[in-house]
Amino acid sequence: MNLFDSHCHYNDEKFDIDRKEIIMQNFEKGVKKAVVAGYSLKSSEFAIEIANKYEHLYATAGISPNDLEEIDLEKIEKLAQNKKVVAIGEIGLDYHYTTENKELQKQLFIKQIEIANKLNLPIVIHTREAVMDTLQILKEYPVNKKGVFHCCPLNIELIKEGLKLGFYISFSGNVTFKNAKNAGICIEAVPLDKILIETDSPYMTPEPHRGERNTPANVKYVAEKIAEIKDITAEEVAKQTFQNAERIFGIE
Ligand code: NI
Repeated sequence: MNLFDSHCHYNDEKFDIDRKEIIMQNFEKGVKKAVVAGYSLKSSEFAIEIANKYEHLYATAGISPNDLEEIDLEKIEKLAQNKKVVAIGEIGLDYHYTTENKELQKQLFIKQIEIANKLNLPIVIHTREAVMDTLQILKEYPVNKKGVFHCCPLNIELIKEGLKLGFYISFSGNVTFKNAKNAGICIEAVPLDKILIETDSPYMTPEPHRGERNTPANVKYVAEKIAEIKDITAEEVAKQTFQNAERIFGIE
């Protein structure tokens, strides 16, 4: 089964001890393509460095709402012109940890949408406890190349509105969690040609590996869960989501 992990963090320090080995092992296990997501200046630079080393890996560049210490959008714009960068991200809004910097988060989100439009790239959205504001910004500041709701919250309203706006929905290990009561209705609500799968590794480890470091090979558990809900084979899910990821990220 050939899998496309649409969002992982091989750039995370948790992979420092065995990055090269795990990248090659996962390739052998079927992770034939993956996007290494940036979330700050440093992590975006490193994502690009990794993507330039491995033909089957791609990168995103962007500043996430949880990484506001070092904001340099000129630098992000420059980084995003690297040929292995397939999207601006992860960007968006996150009110989970604090709501005190809402305005700064919104401004940063909007400015990075403008960079995406300038460079003709899609965006990778991080949204947490900020559904209404996220949707409002996407409506007011349309993204030409659309993009992906990464590690999409299992919120049916968000999913329906996101689809209406032309975005893809990326499911992560959270759909396998025992307490993910809406996983079924959320997966059912997304047509197969709009679904991506991801690990967000080393975080969001799916069942049955919770508690361990997550790794892109585990994206197969996300494919299996979707297959179960949609009553098709995991192979079909893998194949379709692979094509979807190549389409949205403009990969041959
Ligand atoms: Ni992420």
